[in-house]
Amino acid sequence: MSELIIRKPDDWHLHLRDGQMLASVIAHSSENFARAIIMPNLVPPVVTTDQATAYQRRIKACIPSEHQFEPLMTLYLTEGTDPNDVEAGAKSGLIKALKLYPAGATTNSESGVQNFENVLPVLERMAQIKLPLLVHGEVTSADVDIFDREAVFIERVLDPIRKKVPGLRVIMEHVTTSDGVDYVSSGGDDIAATITTHHLIINRNSYLAGGIRPHYYCLPVAKREKHRLALRSAATSGNSNFFLGTDSAPHTNGAKIATCGCAGIYTSINTLNCLAHIFEDDKALDKLEAFTSINGPSFYRLPLNDEKVRFTKSSTPINFPKSFSVQNDHVTVFDPGFELYWQHEPINAEEV
Ligand code: DOR
Ligand code: ZN
Repeated sequence: MSELIIRKPDDWHLHLRDGQMLASVIAHSSENFARAIIMPNLVPPVVTTDQATAYQRRIKACIPSEHQFEPLMTLYLTEGTDPNDVEAGAKSGLIKALKLYPAGATTNSESGVQNFENVLPVLERMAQIKLPLLVHGEVTSADVDIFDREAVFIERVLDPIRKKVPGLRVIMEHVTTSDGVDYVSSGGDDIAATITTHHLIINRNSYLAGGIRPHYYCLPVAKREKHRLALRSAATSGNSNFFLGTDSAPHTNGAKIATCGCAGIYTSINTLNCLAHIFEDDKALDKLEAFTSINGPSFYRLPLNDEKVRFTKSSTPINFPKSFSVQNDHVTVFDPGFELYWQHEPINAEEV
């Protein structure tokens, strides 16, 4: 197959940041995607509906006029979150989900949740109004090995929360292990997971073997090869519980190449090209649309995109920028480690 037409993809997990960085990255997403779930881990975080309204306005102001792109807003769950504000934000149509960061789990998660009992009233309200909870599924205790943090989170935090709050709809963000895949696969209609492009491609050797490679460092960290393969099977299976959330997370080279470098991989520019490549490798191009364009909106109970895109495979590799400049530094673009041949373009409704 050298051509494929699918509904325009959405990105169900994206970091756009703010200010100069937002202005520098927005077009990469607004060109390739119809919608994206925008992460609220700014400094300070997006905690209230008013803050999300203002943030969405700042994002929209940066979208190039020729792009149609809808930023779907989330709130950062804290122990002080007001259930009434959450409900008002959701009912207004602005707030599409809340994000739970265990305190200290990742970039800008200091305001996250320490005592999960304290957020139960918010979770109960979310269950009532069917607003999804997005979880960064890692425990943060120093006594838990970083490679085990997802599995331990499921056992110690996620499963108990789901039992305490029946009907809560949960998305395990950027799932990275077979434990996560199994938990979601057997979890029924109220649980789903996003999978990033990079976790389908890299394993822990990618950033540790033969030298430290900061541009492959993200959280949750990529795990052993068997986990990558479990993610590949889940993504390419068409299973409606799994969909794309790139977790594309820009950091400047200065912030990444440091004695304590930041977590985050920037894939917004070449994510879809990478995905077409790996779905073809796994003989699953017919499942690409489910992963990028159908399963996500179905779980969020949002309409599917009507616009279509055409993927075509070229005979020569496509060139992508290796990095782009932001103020006085650069952001490095994800290098999948292989050439990319699939490209895509929007197509008119009449053409289909
Ligand atoms: O690698 C990551 N980067 N993982 C996260 O959870 C946060 C993100 C960021 O904001 O940079
Ligand atoms: Zn993220």
